[in-house]
Amino acid sequence: MKAPRSPRTVDSVREASSSPDAIIQLHGVAKRFANAAGEFTVLKSVDLTIKRGEFVSIVGKSGSGKSTLLNMVTGIDHPSEGQVIVNGKDIYTGVTESQRSNWRGKNLGIVFQFFQLLPMLTLLENVMLPMDYVDMYGFDERPERAMELLKLVGLEKFANKLPILVSTGQQQLAAIARAMACDPPLLIADEPTGNLDTKSADTIIGLFEHFVSQGKTIVMVTHDPSLTSRTHRNIIISDGELIDETIARSLPQLRHRHMLEFTKLVEERTYQPHETIISRNEPADYFFMIRSGEVEVILQSKKKNENIVSRLGDGEFFGEMELLKGGKSIANVRAGKKPVEVLALPRADFVRVMNESPITAEAVAKIVQKRLEAHRIPDYRSR
Ligand SMILES: Nc1ncnc2c1ncn2[C@@H]1O[C@H](COP(=O)(O)OP(=O)(O)OP(=O)(O)O)[C@@H](O)[C@H]1O
Ligand SMILES: [Mg+2]
Repeated sequence: MKAPRSPRTVDSVREASSSPDAIIQLHGVAKRFANAAGEFTVLKSVDLTIKRGEFVSIVGKSGSGKSTLLNMVTGIDHPSEGQVIVNGKDIYTGVTESQRSNWRGKNLGIVFQFFQLLPMLTLLENVMLPMDYVDMYGFDERPERAMELLKLVGLEKFANKLPILVSTGQQQLAAIARAMACDPPLLIADEPTGNLDTKSADTIIGLFEHFVSQGKTIVMVTHDPSLTSRTHRNIIISDGELIDETIARSLPQLRHRHMLEFTKLVEERTYQPHETIISRNEPADYFFMIRSGEVEVILQSKKKNENIVSRLGDGEFFGEMELLKGGKSIANVRAGKKPVEVLALPRADFVRVMNESPITAEAVAKIVQKRLEAHRIPDYRSR
């Protein structure tokens, strides 16, 4: 057996074998490019797990590293450091370029913004190409299978046309049919609707939803917020680093750079069922975001009766009222019936960023106001 390269590799491999439901695992993936000015880092130690059957969108500013990240998963480019496991295979260890290319043909469908259909082949021939390349399905079966895929994407009438004779939306549908030609479990799409009108984009996302309902996994880079709302998970990349998804869900208006800052500052905590997280009348030191589970917010009545005024779950936050106003907690907050995972952000960091981000501060204030009204909590400022 080969000696492990580093302790990190050992841990990662162990983790890989313990997550059978993961289809993509990145462990400490870094990518550096060299140019005339020297070396620069495009991905900084990225850890990411995507489960089978998930529909995931990836967003981020231009140049943040989205395409580079996808290229690490597809094997189109290789990482400078770290490990990539796709569909149970470590795709960069002991694998030659041509083995990787063959593996890719059988395991991945790839779709780009500019469809990259071969212009001198008909749509049907384009869809048959990957089957020929990895020699999948009997030779006589291939046209029939390609036709079925074209039917699925609504292009059977155009099967014998050259790409240039159909619309751009239809070309992209044909490119998707081609990507699915060898029935891969995973589809990777880099801005698949970036060059299309809204209606064509909608058709394509509908098609992706269909594939996901059939058990496929899809990872899609997009700039379009109306599409990210239709995926199970949205991953934000900022300057080559991934933003914590709980932070992005809790404070969606925040600038990416502040989200990234919070990602590095938060502390992960787990509370057992009914364990106290915030005690009334104690100084408030943290802003909390819920990663999983539920918390109960409890007010005490004058007669000292406990009154659960709200239950908060995934992607919601608490502790903000006290922090924004300063002072002590007005309510008790405790874990619900199951363990709850939260991210705790120190008070000073939360207050500083709220001062720099009026839009987020306003959004947080609105949620606070709603909670106060919903539960008729007396205005705590007058307490
Ligand atoms: N092969 C390469 N050689 C050198 N630099 C590269 C290479 N590929 C990407 N880069 C640089 O890496 C950075 C990230 O590029 P990447 O294409 O991943 O960004 P992106 O998030 O996909 O951006 P966009 O939204 O514009 O597609 C950019 O600064 C880019 O210039
Ligand atoms: Mg890109």
